[in-house]
Amino acid sequence: MQDEALTRAMQCLTSEERQRYASFTRAERRCQYLIGRVLLRHAVSRVTGIHPKLVATVDRRGSGPGLTLPDGVLHPGISISHSRNWIACITGTGISLGLDIEVTDESRDVTALADAAFSGDEAAWIHGQEAHARVSAFYRFWTVKEALIKLWSNSEKRQPLPLLVDDNGGPHSSGAGWHSLTLAYRNLAIAVCSGMALPEVVLVDATSLLA
Ligand SMILES: CC(C)(COP(=O)(O)OP(=O)(O)OC[C@H]1O[C@@H](n2cnc3c(N)ncnc32)[C@H](O)[C@@H]1OP(=O)(O)O)[C@@H](O)C(=O)NCCC(=O)NCCS
Repeated sequence: MQDEALTRAMQCLTSEERQRYASFTRAERRCQYLIGRVLLRHAVSRVTGIHPKLVATVDRRGSGPGLTLPDGVLHPGISISHSRNWIACITGTGISLGLDIEVTDESRDVTALADAAFSGDEAAWIHGQEAHARVSAFYRFWTVKEALIKLWSNSEKRQPLPLLVDDNGGPHSSGAGWHSLTLAYRNLAIAVCSGMALPEVVLVDATSLLA
């Protein structure tokens, strides 16, 4: 990020957000936090119609950020994720959301990771994929699980993660009270989870916003 863009982004933050920004020791983490807050302001502005300057966030321990909006503005669902130098956020009206992104790393031993992190049936599905499809299969399950954790935390639900394979051993993308949608963009695996099926997800690359 250029110095000028960094200064402009910093000016958007509230004093509480600046304190949180300054509390991170790693420069990469500071940058993820800052860009996440800028993106969120623009995304919330897009779905509510209010100016980005009228949007502020409050950090909530053990959960995603909350929003402070002018009186009378309906609070949209929001979620943020980062992976290496990618930062993403999602907003949607009248719905709770969970988002996860991961940079796809083809060099990872995804079968060993699946054995360690997933149930036996889920890992078996990953093992059963053709070699070229195994990495994306792994990231599909991983991102959906992380997005579900965020969805349930954002909607203050506590329940165990569901199995992502059905009785026939095949993958499924929805269950009681949850829906997931997975996308790939550049080198990213993306998962969006929501309490009800989403009519559409519009993906916007906002790189130019931060130039
Ligand atoms: C909560 C958790 C899902 C966050 O995921 P992560 O990969 O560490 O971080 P991401 O970059 O994707 O997301 C970070 C953002 O999510 C949000 N967030 C953090 N904790 C959250 C929570 N409990 N609920 C909702 N959102 C949360 C924040 O906005 C944060 O960014 P910010 O601090 O800059 O605002 C993760 O820390 C966790 O607890 N995972 C459990 C491990 C696990 O069982 N994984 C399942 C795979 S088998």
